[in-house]
Order: sequence, then structure tokens, then C-alpha cells
Amino acid sequence: MGLNLAQKIIKEHLISGEMKPGSEISIRIDQTLTQDSTGTMAYLQFEAMGIPRVKTKKSVAYIDHNTLQAGFENADDHKYIQTVASKHGVYFSRPGNGICHQVHLERFGVPGMTLLGSDSHTPTGGGIGMLAIGAGGLDVAVAMGGGPYYMMMPKVCRVVLKGALKPWVTAKDIILEVLRRLSVKGGVGKIIEYAGDGIKSLTVPERATITNMGAELGATTSIFPSDEVTKEFLKAQGRENDWVELKPDEDAQYDEEIVIDLDELEPLAAQPHSPDNVAKVKDIGKIKVDQVAIGSCTNSSYMDMMKVAAILKGKKVHPDVSLVIAPGSKQVLTMLAQNGALADMVSAGARILESACGPCIGMGQAPATDAVSLRTFNRNFEGRSGTKSAKVYLVSPEIAAASAITGVLTDPRELGEAPKIDMPEKFVIDDSMVLAPAPEGADVEVVRGPNIKPFPVNKALEDKVSGKALIKVEDNITTDHIMPSNAKLLPFRSNVPYLAEFCLTPCDPDFPKRAKENGGGFIIGGSNYGQGSSREHAALAPLQLGIKGVIAKSFARIHMANLINSGIIPMTFENEADYDDIDMNDELVIENAKEQIKNGSSIVVKNITKGKDIKVNVSLSQRQVEMILAGGLLNYTRQQNQ
Ligand code: F3S
Repeated sequence: MGLNLAQKIIKEHLISGEMKPGSEISIRIDQTLTQDSTGTMAYLQFEAMGIPRVKTKKSVAYIDHNTLQAGFENADDHKYIQTVASKHGVYFSRPGNGICHQVHLERFGVPGMTLLGSDSHTPTGGGIGMLAIGAGGLDVAVAMGGGPYYMMMPKVCRVVLKGALKPWVTAKDIILEVLRRLSVKGGVGKIIEYAGDGIKSLTVPERATITNMGAELGATTSIFPSDEVTKEFLKAQGRENDWVELKPDEDAQYDEEIVIDLDELEPLAAQPHSPDNVAKVKDIGKIKVDQVAIGSCTNSSYMDMMKVAAILKGKKVHPDVSLVIAPGSKQVLTMLAQNGALADMVSAGARILESACGPCIGMGQAPATDAVSLRTFNRNFEGRSGTKSAKVYLVSPEIAAASAITGVLTDPRELGEAPKIDMPEKFVIDDSMVLAPAPEGADVEVVRGPNIKPFPVNKALEDKVSGKALIKVEDNITTDHIMPSNAKLLPFRSNVPYLAEFCLTPCDPDFPKRAKENGGGFIIGGSNYGQGSSREHAALAPLQLGIKGVIAKSFARIHMANLINSGIIPMTFENEADYDDIDMNDELVIENAKEQIKNGSSIVVKNITKGKDIKVNVSLSQRQVEMILAGGLLNYTRQQNQ
């Protein structure tokens, strides 16, 4: 039986597991990328592994999210990432060089390779035929250290694109149509693989718009074949040698299929407040627009910007509209400056922003109260723009530019003939804002501002695990209880010791102090302990405080995985009623802990204070057992590398 494209790349990189949907596999990672918001943690984690140089074919650290430097924190993060990258063999893309996904596509993406990025829109790389997956910072740190990436083998859904787009209908409308059909949950556990004669007319940046927003489907990733169009793009980037042809086998099988007739598509918009709340622009009607924002990793390519410039040329932005434009990269911005398109934008009244995420990550340009904002971005969740009452519509650059002129949501077909922009034969290539790592890292001194603190690392499991029950909490404790996240604490994401001072304080303000005074111990939890967001800090803060194990009635799945990654033993009561047999400050002991954990799921915790044995379950895979024995994932990866 033939393989589809996704299966071919997975097979090529498979380390363990069976390629059967739903079973755990691990794959080798060729490239990694980080952005600054998640990057500081990823590099602190990498440093904690003690591996001198990254083992990937290429790793790149981008600064594109927190580029505002109103206080010292962001600038400190940039300096830290720049120096730590140089030391450990990672390329560093300076602030101003562009948005990670746009720059990676232009300068680093290679068809057929695997890319793991600490950003959810990493699947943008699927536009050039990569298997590009977004993951947590810890997964990326492990991949940089040469460790495999574990995931459940996804199903593969083929999206067949037939025909060709009509004038003024764009790649953005294709992905909005997929979102309309499948919904924001429709891609979960799946890879979306594009096929059909319609793909031939889509350039690499257009394909990347589609794979980028595959993240909004919840998909593992999305991918296009690597064909002559891909080759032309790479050639224009001076990277023809990186090209390989990639296509599915003739008799490839797919788990699902949908067909989209491109000729029938019309300009679409995702209405507030979800990317799948999609309707035709002509049906939404001419609503008044207050702000238009063009850019983001979804729609900031050279082609996008040239179309916008052509629409704006000789016109003026409507007096009631604020138009902001952020070209996706230095390459794009340079080319717009050189060919005069930038002048057309400025002359029309556009406000030009730095090549960075900008308003997409809430770095400025929050809309006015109750404003309607048209954005070429990928997400329009309530409040993401920085203004809770704003109504954000996601649209193509063409709709955005047309509406900026008219002041109302405009179907661009009303403008007459669509601008025809050709893919340049040669992009302007100047990688001076990508700094290569030092050839020998040993001499590089890593600069750590006051906010960059070493990452907590556990010790290998001891034979006797003992300590007090330091806190006893009710059912449904969330990761927000365990590690509160608010505007005041957010700048301290690289300072786990400071954050730990707030661990579980919504339940008991004295918990951190008690934990430190006792040199660590145990947490006793109710049902569904650790529900809510997936934040790793909810396991790192307890680790910082010396927590050795959590005994609960049940765990939320992701938090349990994060505990294991930190080497904290997650235990569930065999008999839930035993929850009542442990009180705060009881002395608990696990004898022969290593043996007990190796031997299987049921282990005994002695409550010395009450004189009672409590049976608990530790349900771990073989790999997780080894992680607990090693004292967490970082130690485990280090051991595997020795
Ligand atoms: Fe940046 Fe927004 Fe993309 S934050 S990486 S432009 S989704």
C-alpha cells in the first residue's frame, strides 16, 4: 500500500512506534525554531541538560514577539537568547529581521525535513513541504539536545483543491473555507495534506498562509507537496540546492478527504470571535471599519504586501480608519523600499510597523473601545487584540486594503481589475541580521540579566522518598491555582524561583514558605488535579519548592505529563476514600521507591503519622518510568546522550 506525503516524511524520521493513528511514535527532528516569548525557557531548559552544542541540522532563535523595550525585561531576554544561542550552536535572528515563520520559510526551510518550533504556527513550514510541528519549549529543548519528539501518530486528511482561484479570491479564503467546513476542532489529531491540480497555481507563500492557519483547525500540522513551484521559490531565495521533489505515492491512502472547488470560492471573513465563524464578505455587508492591520505570520509575504501596495497606490486611507502594516521580514521590507511600494503605502496614509508580530501579540495597536478591526492575522479570540469590546474580523490582505480606503468592509471585486503581481525571480538576499553561532561555544559568556534565573532540575530518584504532606487541596484545582498567571507575573517567565513564591497561594498563602522550611514534600489533591492550561510552570514551581510527589484522586492529563517531565511522581489513590487518611503535616514515606516504580503501577505510601499504609497507583509508560528514575526529562535526555 502506498504512502501519503506525511507518512513518507514520518517514516523517514521514525525512531520508535508504529505508524498507526493513535499510537505513540517518536521522530527525529532536523531543525528547530524558537521565538523570544517561549525561547528564554527553551534555552534555560537546554542549558540545564548540560549538552554543549545543539545536535540538530539547524536551529534558529528568533526575536519577533516582545520587541517593545519599555522596560529592561525584554531587552534582557534578547541579550540572553543572543549569547546562549551563540554558545550552543544556534543561529540568532535579530529583532527587526522578521517574524519567525516568514523568515524561516525564506531562509531556512527545507522540503522533507522535520521542524519543531516553540510556537503554535510552526506548521507554516508545511508550505515548503516540511513536516513542521508546534510544541512546548521543553520538547524543543530536548530536540535541540538530540532527543526524539514524541506524539500520537495522526490521521491524515487530504484536502483536494480543484481548479483555480478567481481574481480577488486568495489563499486566505481557501483556509477560511477549510475552517468553515471543519471548525476549530476539526483538525485535532490530524495532518492536513493538500493535493489536487489547484495547488499548482499557489505560490509557496500562499501555501504557507494555508498551512499557517491549519493551527486554527487544531491540526498537528499541514503540508503541501514540494514541486516545481517550490523549486522556483527556493531558486529565487538562492537555495535551489535545498530542493527535493516530494509527493505522495499514486496509491496513497488517506483517513479522510474533502474537496474544494477553487473556482467557486468567494472573498470570505472570519467574524468575531472565532476563526471558524466564516461568512462571505458580500453577505456580512458594508459594516463600518475603524482599524485595519495587515501583517502577521499568516499574511506578510512580499506578494501579500505588493498586492496591498498596488491597491493603495494613488489612493488615501479613509479618515475614520487607522491602517497599520507590518511587512513580515527585513527581506520583504527591503524589497518594498527598493521598488517604491513602501512609498505608495506611506503616501496613502498607512502607518508602517517594525517587521515583527506587533499587534498580533498585543504589542501595540489595540483597537478603540467597541471598534471593528479587520486583520490579516490568524486569530480573533475575544480580547486578543488588547481591547475586550473590539470586534476583530480575519480577512485577506486584499479585503483589508480595499476596506482601508472605503472605510467599510469591502468585497474587493468592487474595485475592478485585480492587481497582477509576479513572484520575483530573485529575492533580495542579505542575511546580515542572522548571526551565526560561535564556532567554539566554550568561550562565549552567556549574559543573564537580573530576570534570567537558572532552571530548576530534579535529582535522580532516591530509594527512600519522604516528606510531609505540605498542602491538601480540594477537587478541580487548576494550573491557575498552582501557578497563577497575571500581568504582574508574566514578565517573570524566566525566573522560576520568583514565580515559585506564588505557587498554590490562591489555596494557601503560606504554602511556598512551608515547602521551603521543610525542604520539600508532597501535595495532596482531589479529583482532576491540574486542569486548565498546559503551562509547564505549574510543574516547575512545585519542583523549585522541592515537591517530590503529588497524590491525588485523579489528574488532568497534560499536567500529569508536565509533572513527569519534572521528575515529580504523580500518584492516584487506589481507594479514593484514603484521601481522608492524610492530613496536612502528616509524615509520608515511600520505601524502595525505585523498585516499586519499576515493578508496576501499585505502590505503597506509608503515613507514618497515622500509622497507615496507603495504596496508590502510578500509571506510567516505560519511558515515563525511566524519566521519573532519572529525575525528569532533561536528566533523561542527558543520560540518553552519554
Ligand atoms: Fe507572531 Fe502572531 Fe504569528 S504572534 S508568530 S504573528 S500568530
